[in-house]
Amino acid sequence: MKLTLKIWRQKDANSKGSMQTYPIDGIDGDMSFLEMLDVLNDGLIEKGEEPVVFDHDCREGICGSCSLQINGEPHGPDRLITTCQLHMRKFNDGDTIVIEPFRAKAFPVIKDLMVDRSSFDRIQHAGGFISVNTSGNTIDANAIPIEKEDADASFNAAACIGCGACVAACKNASAMLFTSAKVSQFALLPQGKVEATRRVLNMVEQMDKEGFGNCTNTGACEVECPKGISLENIARMNREYLAASLKG
Ligand code: SF4
Ligand code: FES
Repeated sequence: MKLTLKIWRQKDANSKGSMQTYPIDGIDGDMSFLEMLDVLNDGLIEKGEEPVVFDHDCREGICGSCSLQINGEPHGPDRLITTCQLHMRKFNDGDTIVIEPFRAKAFPVIKDLMVDRSSFDRIQHAGGFISVNTSGNTIDANAIPIEKEDADASFNAAACIGCGACVAACKNASAMLFTSAKVSQFALLPQGKVEATRRVLNMVEQMDKEGFGNCTNTGACEVECPKGISLENIARMNREYLAASLKG
């Protein structure tokens, strides 16, 4: 396939970026999107030009590192996959593909297509954990009975890989889907009940501090989420937040 890539290039966080055009040839349908960018970068390096910086790690849909707004959609045109799982067979010979970083005030661009998502880490640090007394009397987690429905819903929430597509998809750049997944995975389990009140209050406070927008129930986050995280988690977090606020 012959393609035309329009890619956002930005030297650093303080520079003004712009779209640059790169023609590319010899792209196979079986290549992943990131392999296609590797081919582009090999060519740029050969010509003595700076390669395009983009985030990646596992390249198998697990780590949440890869991002990319592809033709206006986080993780591209396919559903329930990450950019690293997107294959070039989804595109046609002669296509123009527009590639941008995830756009949000709370995700500043580091360079080119790489954004700083440490705001997510700070939300996690604010309450996305449980404390367990390991003095010797700890009950084995597997010995605590949990309703199947709750275990499944918690497991589904825990599937969030923290990629940030939900924020990039949202017209308000809201992080409610991410934060609610991280709150829900504990709220549904007995182990998470102990710190439930301060967890939800602290995580929501941190989310607001980071500059993410509010949720207006448009649902774009759920559509673009590669892990199928449900809007039900946002409803659950709102209930948890209300209960925690009333407690004090
Ligand atoms: S909720 Fe979905 S889109 Fe948002 S960070 Fe988690 S996995 Fe990514
Ligand atoms: S590189 Fe790990 S999810 Fe894409």
